[in-house]
Amino acid sequence: MPCSVVVGGFWGDEGKGKIVSYLALRDKVDFAVRGGSINAGHTVVIHEMKYSLRMIPGAFVYEKCRLLIGPGANVFPKVFIEEVEKTGVRGRVGLDNQCSIIEDQHVSRDRESSFLSKQIGTTGSGVGPALEDRVKRVARLAKDIDELKPFLADVPGELNKALDDGRKVVVEGTQGTFLSLFHGTYPYCTGRDTTASALCSEVGIGPTSVNNVLLVFKAYMTRVGAGYLPGELPEKEVIKRGWAETGTVTGRKRRAAPFNFDLAQRAVSLNGATSLAVTKFDVLFPTCSHTDRYDDLPNEAKEFVDQIERRLGVPVDLIGTGPEATDIIDRR
Ligand code: GTP
Ligand code: IMP
Ligand code: MG
Repeated sequence: MPCSVVVGGFWGDEGKGKIVSYLALRDKVDFAVRGGSINAGHTVVIHEMKYSLRMIPGAFVYEKCRLLIGPGANVFPKVFIEEVEKTGVRGRVGLDNQCSIIEDQHVSRDRESSFLSKQIGTTGSGVGPALEDRVKRVARLAKDIDELKPFLADVPGELNKALDDGRKVVVEGTQGTFLSLFHGTYPYCTGRDTTASALCSEVGIGPTSVNNVLLVFKAYMTRVGAGYLPGELPEKEVIKRGWAETGTVTGRKRRAAPFNFDLAQRAVSLNGATSLAVTKFDVLFPTCSHTDRYDDLPNEAKEFVDQIERRLGVPVDLIGTGPEATDIIDRR
C-alpha cells in the first residue's frame, strides 16, 4: 500500500503514534509526513523507551524512514529542535519552507486569553493564535528562521516524487475527527480541520494519491478540555473501569465515555475510512494484554470487533493490546 493516511476517529489521543510506529516497522515505510502542530502529543513506546512526540512523525522508529513536516504545519522551533536531538533523527528530517512559526507571543496570547485557556480549555501551546496570524498573513515562515535552515525542504515536491517512484508513504494526522474546526463540536475544537482530506492538503498531496485511510479509534472514548462528550462517565467510574488517563502535552486528566457507534460511523464517513485500528483492547479485556494473536481474545472482545465491522462496514485491521509498538494484533 504505497500511501496510507492515519487519522483519529474521536477526540485525539486514540493512539495514532503507536499505530504509525508499528506500520513504519512492518512496512519499512520510506517517507512519513506530519501536519498539525505541537498541541498534539503522540506517544511511541519502543523497547520500553517512551517518546512523547509533538512534531516528529512516530515513524522515526524505522531508521531508514525520511521524516517530513508539511507546509500546513505550525512549528515551534525550540520544540522541533529538542525533539530532533532526543530522537536522533538529524540528517533524515525535513521541514517545509512554508511551515508557519509559533512564537512565544502566540503561547502568551493562548494562555492569557480566558476564552481560549479557560472556556475552550486549549493546550496552551500557542497554536490557535499562530494560525490566526497565518490567516492574517503576518506569520513568519520556516524559511525566515536561521536555526531551521539546515532542515528546510520542499515537502510536497519530495512526497509527490516519492509517490511517482512507488515509494511507501505514511501521512500522520493529529488530534481527532471531532476536534475538527469544520466537523467537530465548535467552538470546543482545535484551530484546523483534522480530517483526512485536510491533512492531505496540509502536506501537499492530492486525494487520488491516497490508497488507504486508516482511522484510529480507542476502545472507549476520551477527551481533554471542554466540550460535549456523549455518555461521559463520572470520574469515579472512569477510575473504577481503569480508563483514567492524563494528557501527553498538558498532563490534564482525560474525560472518558464508552465507545459510541453513531460518532464512529460519522467519523468513517467524514474521513472516507478504508480500514480501522482500535487501540486499548487490553484495557477493556485485560486477558489479551500484549498478545499478537486474534485467537487469544476472549469471545466478548471478538464480538466487539464483529460489532464494529458490522455497524461501520469497514474492516478492523489492527487491534492494540498494549502501549509498545509491537503490542498489536494484525489481521490484514
Ligand atoms: P494525539 O496526536 O495527541 O491525538 O495522540 P495519539 O493519538 O498519538 O495518542 P496518545 O499517545 O496521546 O495517547 C494514547 C495513549 O495510549 C498513550 O499513552 C499510548 O502509549 C497508549 N496506547 C496506545 N495504544 C495502546 C494500546 O493498545 N494499549 C494500551 N494499554 N495503551 C495504548
Ligand atoms: P488547541 O488545539 O490547543 O487550541 O486546543 C483546542 C482543543 O483541542 C482543546 O480541547 C484541547 O484539549 C484539544 N486538543 C488539541 N490537541 C489535542 C491533542 O493532541 N489531543 C487531545 N486533545 C487535543
Ligand atoms: Mg495525544
